[in-house]
Amino acid sequence: MLRSSTLKFLEIDPTREADAVASFLSQHTWPYHARTTLSLDEAREIKLGPPSDVRSFWINEDDSPVGVVRAFDLNDANDGSVLFDLRIASDCRGRGIGRATIAWVVDMLFTEYPSLHRIQANTRFDNHAMGRALEFNKFVLEGRLRETWPSDDGFRYDTALYGRLRNDA
Ligand SMILES: CC(C)(COP(=O)(O)OP(=O)(O)OC[C@H]1O[C@@H](n2cnc3c(N)ncnc32)[C@H](O)[C@@H]1OP(=O)(O)O)[C@@H](O)C(=O)NCCC(=O)NCCS
Repeated sequence: MLRSSTLKFLEIDPTREADAVASFLSQHTWPYHARTTLSLDEAREIKLGPPSDVRSFWINEDDSPVGVVRAFDLNDANDGSVLFDLRIASDCRGRGIGRATIAWVVDMLFTEYPSLHRIQANTRFDNHAMGRALEFNKFVLEGRLRETWPSDDGFRYDTALYGRLRNDA
């Protein structure tokens, strides 16, 4: 069981820490992402910045990295939706870290971007853990986009579209 006080969220410096993040991402599997596994080179393609548009954070538990969360489309914070991507290490899932991280990222975004009205989260429709973690944090299932989520197995899954408004708080 998670003691949320043991979690810390540390902003990633995209220039200095790109290799460490790529190493982390390439060591775990991501069964609901378009690519289930990432080579080091593929992992380096994931945008960690620039901070005007993308901000990335280590999720640390007891000072060890257990995940990465990235907020993106921050350029749209004043008049659109900000999105985020959340990845917890394979051996740390199902202990409440996802729920606690979403709570943190929502609070951080609505606090640091006072004009932000809406946060959006897209996930594969059958990603029940992500759906439950979002609903726990007052995200509402707003839509289902059919056959829009590519996968390694060649199948196109549906996308679940969740949103949370500042007023939902
Ligand atoms: C999806 C993810 C972020 C959820 O975080 P987590 O720390 O594993 O989840 P939590 O422990 O906070 O649990 C959240 C909910 O999911 C449920 N859950 C956890 N693992 C589950 C699983 N394998 N299958 C179904 N539900 C699951 C929990 O029971 C909980 O639901 P509840 O509130 O009804 O009890 C994490 O599993 C992950 O990183 N997965 C791989 C990457 C990914 O899919 N990211 C989402 C990208 S859009």
